[in-house]
Amino acid sequence: MAAALESLSSSVRLSSGYTIPVLGFGVAFGFDKAGRDPRTLTKPAVLEALKVGLRHFDTARMYNNEDHLGEVIKESGIPREELFITTKVDGDFHGYDKTVASVNDSLKRLDLDFADLILLHDARAGKRRRLEAYKALLDLKAQGKVRSAGVSNYGVKHLEEIAAAGYEVPSVNQLEIHPFCQQRPIVEYCKAHNITVEAYCPLVRGRVDNPVVGKIASRLGKDPAQVLIRWSLQRGFIPLPMSSSPARIKSNADVFNFSLPESDMAGLDALDQGGAGAISWNPVDVE
Ligand SMILES: NC(=O)c1ccc[n+]([C@@H]2O[C@H](COP(=O)([O-])OP(=O)(O)OC[C@H]3O[C@@H](n4cnc5c(N)ncnc54)[C@H](OP(=O)(O)O)[C@@H]3O)[C@@H](O)[C@H]2O)c1
Repeated sequence: MAAALESLSSSVRLSSGYTIPVLGFGVAFGFDKAGRDPRTLTKPAVLEALKVGLRHFDTARMYNNEDHLGEVIKESGIPREELFITTKVDGDFHGYDKTVASVNDSLKRLDLDFADLILLHDARAGKRRRLEAYKALLDLKAQGKVRSAGVSNYGVKHLEEIAAAGYEVPSVNQLEIHPFCQQRPIVEYCKAHNITVEAYCPLVRGRVDNPVVGKIASRLGKDPAQVLIRWSLQRGFIPLPMSSSPARIKSNADVFNFSLPESDMAGLDALDQGGAGAISWNPVDVE
């Protein structure tokens, strides 16, 4: 999973054979601190992200903004092949037929012929529906509607279940990952099986004030969010920072002109609190 980290257009190859840009952009979901409706934030934020050169966008059926993302993509005029678009299937829609319908609905809302990556959003549907949903993604992949099939919030047990069923490995597992929640056993499994790990909440939902992070940031003349994104990239994850602020969208993408020395990486590694450090839902242990 060693990533080439030269620029915003750097990418890594997934097990599906397709490439994915090493830095993504989380499309706003949920109301922000100011109580603004995320749907009104989607279009300006994505437009700004495109302007700074980001081409990899992460959304989900659950975020209720696939239509807005699709509109900005169309309006931007950027060729489809230059973009990498991920969406997800909610647990409520896991099961063969429901998953097929959910992916088709998402493509319609995004106004796209195919998604670069579709993830099963979490593992809560139980073994039977999880495996049926995964099989549906593989069939959609064979039909060309999905280029890469993946999962999110999957623990080792859920990944082993896919292997035991004889299915190809997911290209991606998207997990809550930042220095305080490093998901080490799952990451080890993913590395050993060529599953690329994406990091959600890479900015700890904006709680970037920490003495260790702050000290590194001020020594390097960077801001704490840039240090967190760089840690994620250097550890081989694909971070998906979200912001609705034009200045922060720009600075969060400006992370390819410096690197963290191994001593700083080790200092950040030492902040791990395991699952106790998670600040989102992190349902990796469900049955
Ligand atoms: N698969 C899953 O279950 C799952 C769960 C959660 C998230 N995700 C994905 O991951 C993406 C990111 O997650 P997230 O939004 O929860 O967490 P995040 O990216 O860690 O944090 C976003 C928060 O950080 C603030 N922020 C952004 N840039 C900053 C900076 N430079 N300095 C200080 N604060 C900054 C943002 O506020 P401003 O907008 O004001 O900048 C926002 O409140 C989501 O959009 C989604 O795509 C997936």
